[in-house]
Amino acid sequence: MPQAFDILIRNATVIDGTGAERCSADVGVSGDRIAAVGDLTDARGKTEIDAAGLILAPGFIDSHTHDDRILLSAGEMTAKVSQGVTTVVGGNCGISLAPMPKPVRKPVTPPLDLLDESGDWYRYRRFADYLEALGEQPAATNSAMLVGHTTLRAITMDELDRPATPSEIAAMQAHVEEAMAAGAIGVSTGLAYPPAQAATTEEVIEVCQPMAAYGGLYATHMRDEGDHTIDSLEESFRIARAVGVQLLISHHKLAGANNHGRSVETLALIEGQMRKQHVCLDCYPYAASSTILTADHARGSPKTIVTWSKSLPQYTGKELDEVMAMMGCDLDEAVRRLQPAGAIYFRMHEDDVRRILAYAPTMIGSDGLPHDENPHPRLWGTFPRILGHYSRDTGLFPLETAVHKMTGLTALEFGFADRGVVREGAYADITLFDPDTVIDRATFERPIALSEGIDTVLVNGTVVWRDGRSTGARPGRVLRRQAPQ
Ligand code: ZN
Ligand code: CU
Repeated sequence: MPQAFDILIRNATVIDGTGAERCSADVGVSGDRIAAVGDLTDARGKTEIDAAGLILAPGFIDSHTHDDRILLSAGEMTAKVSQGVTTVVGGNCGISLAPMPKPVRKPVTPPLDLLDESGDWYRYRRFADYLEALGEQPAATNSAMLVGHTTLRAITMDELDRPATPSEIAAMQAHVEEAMAAGAIGVSTGLAYPPAQAATTEEVIEVCQPMAAYGGLYATHMRDEGDHTIDSLEESFRIARAVGVQLLISHHKLAGANNHGRSVETLALIEGQMRKQHVCLDCYPYAASSTILTADHARGSPKTIVTWSKSLPQYTGKELDEVMAMMGCDLDEAVRRLQPAGAIYFRMHEDDVRRILAYAPTMIGSDGLPHDENPHPRLWGTFPRILGHYSRDTGLFPLETAVHKMTGLTALEFGFADRGVVREGAYADITLFDPDTVIDRATFERPIALSEGIDTVLVNGTVVWRDGRSTGARPGRVLRRQAPQ
């Protein structure tokens, strides 16, 4: 009897996610696992896929997303599986969809409106309720969730423009405890955003404390990513060290012309700190950022594009300069009239983006905003852009390194056991792509576009993407973190 698999992928070039050089192999999948890697010429598969000319890699892990709601509202996750992504990490930048013990205040406080501007999806009273919903209505991809400090502030405090009181801190700690016990992988902050700006370093340390016992991760959208980046890095180091947990610097960047080139300095500082505590970082492959629309951000940006506007949707996709001219008003007035709204800001330098991407410990995270009408192209393009543009066309790093930064490295930092690698016994999260044609097609002008060259995507042994479309399967699971020893 020949060896039999549920799925047999023949003639692949395997890049295994560890950073090791590619090799030729067949891969057999049984149930949700990779059952064999090697010469399987004599074996049979119920389904057989010929992968000649294709790279077989572990499914990509998007280390930084705001997919909390879309996992439930549009669980086919087309923007992600079409790029070969099989796992998303949500709850970033201080904002998580849960917990929300009482009905959410409307209008929804920015930046919580990035996840759900209507407020209708803020309906999971405990973090456990949210994770249960994800388990009961699985998405196409796996997910792992952080609990957001800004969400906790919003449900605990009457006014957000001051530090939390001891009793409010105690209430937030109880929510962190509940979330961690339910399966959250850590706590995120968005200290740059108004609802969290008034939080002191001590407040964050205390709120985060309960995750230490669970070996959680502290992920931060730092207080400042411009002139005061160094202070913000120091604050982040201090918080994670005081709590006794691993630090993740989210979407590391240098914003504003004054700071262009300073990634030399920040990466040296991070590298030095790595010898004293566990620090990791992620980055998206674009020199423009995107978040809510504020006058401050727009003033510091040579060009700003409106990504959505609740009050004046007709300006979606337009440059702010154009909007000001059409309205016949100044920047402050235009921003005021568009609220609530989102925007893309061109405030980074390509050299910094490349230096940070190429830094060996940097993981790839999209920071995509799935509910924006005219989203930043990172939502649909991040992973093929790393493979096609930065690795193949620009030669920033070998393909093996590119894959490692979005698979094996990420699984290791987040503690996703048996993920992010192609080897016998690992979960069958697999992406097949064409190394000659893989490329992002989403642009700032046309931000919603399928990438090219992603052939087939499997999540937990089930095909979710094939022939340029979703199969409709929803095999995604909620992943827990196995904290590094
Ligand atoms: Zn952020
Ligand atoms: Cu973010």
